[in-house]
Amino acid sequence: MGREGLMWVGMTTGKDDKALRRRLARRLIAVQEEQRLRLSRELHDDLGQMLASIALELHIVRADSHEMDPRLARAAMLVDRLSARVHDAAWSLRPADLDRLGLRASVEDLASVLCGQLGIQCEMDLEALSSPLPTEVALTLYRIAQEALTNIGKHAAPSRVSVTAHIQDDRMRLTIEDDGRGFDGGAEPGPGHLGLAGMRERLALVGGKLSVETANGKGTTLYADAPLAG
Ligand SMILES: Nc1ncnc2c1ncn2[C@@H]1O[C@H](COP(=O)(O)OP(=O)(O)O)[C@@H](O)[C@H]1O
Ligand SMILES: [Mg+2]
Repeated sequence: MGREGLMWVGMTTGKDDKALRRRLARRLIAVQEEQRLRLSRELHDDLGQMLASIALELHIVRADSHEMDPRLARAAMLVDRLSARVHDAAWSLRPADLDRLGLRASVEDLASVLCGQLGIQCEMDLEALSSPLPTEVALTLYRIAQEALTNIGKHAAPSRVSVTAHIQDDRMRLTIEDDGRGFDGGAEPGPGHLGLAGMRERLALVGGKLSVETANGKGTTLYADAPLAG
């Protein structure tokens, strides 16, 4: 947001606030999505291609050398791992195809992919996500679901995951629950762990709120509430 936007915030009062907040949130979220698209392309096209070239060179060197040098094998393995990480990062940064699929199917896709990878059943009740929502709210809920499900894949080791959405009092509540490891919700996540903080900030931008219920060994339930009108 430039200085103009900030001055504009300072000058408004009362009933203008809500409309202004919505306009700024819409703009900020659009800019974030543009940046994600740019990063996703750079990761995929530049880094991904370079890593593929290195992997190929290593493969040729290994094929040419008479004795198998374990350092070469290790380097090749590390390049493969890095390629997979870059591919995953590029994939998760890509823009959500909400216009084509709609929010409900997009979130169902995310959950099905995760549960397929973990080899567990997903309980889903996402009918409410078919209701019309402002674009910035839909995008926000999509990114929340994406981060929450990524966290479950990375940290939870659950045997059960449930993703549900309900409308109550002009607000959408998206609930994502797992019965995995849980964590100390009171502890500050270390530097570099920006997922939960990012979810809070995203929701606050559209006038929503994130609540987390968790404890070590007790699973995690995440409630993302957002106003239906943005
Ligand atoms: N569903 C979950 N199950 C268990 N632990 C979790 C879950 N979600 C988050 N955590 C814990 O909270 C920490 C902070 O999460 P996050 O801010 O998303 O950072 P990151 O995923 O990059 O570590 C994680 O490192 C993990 O210890
Ligand atoms: Mg995370």
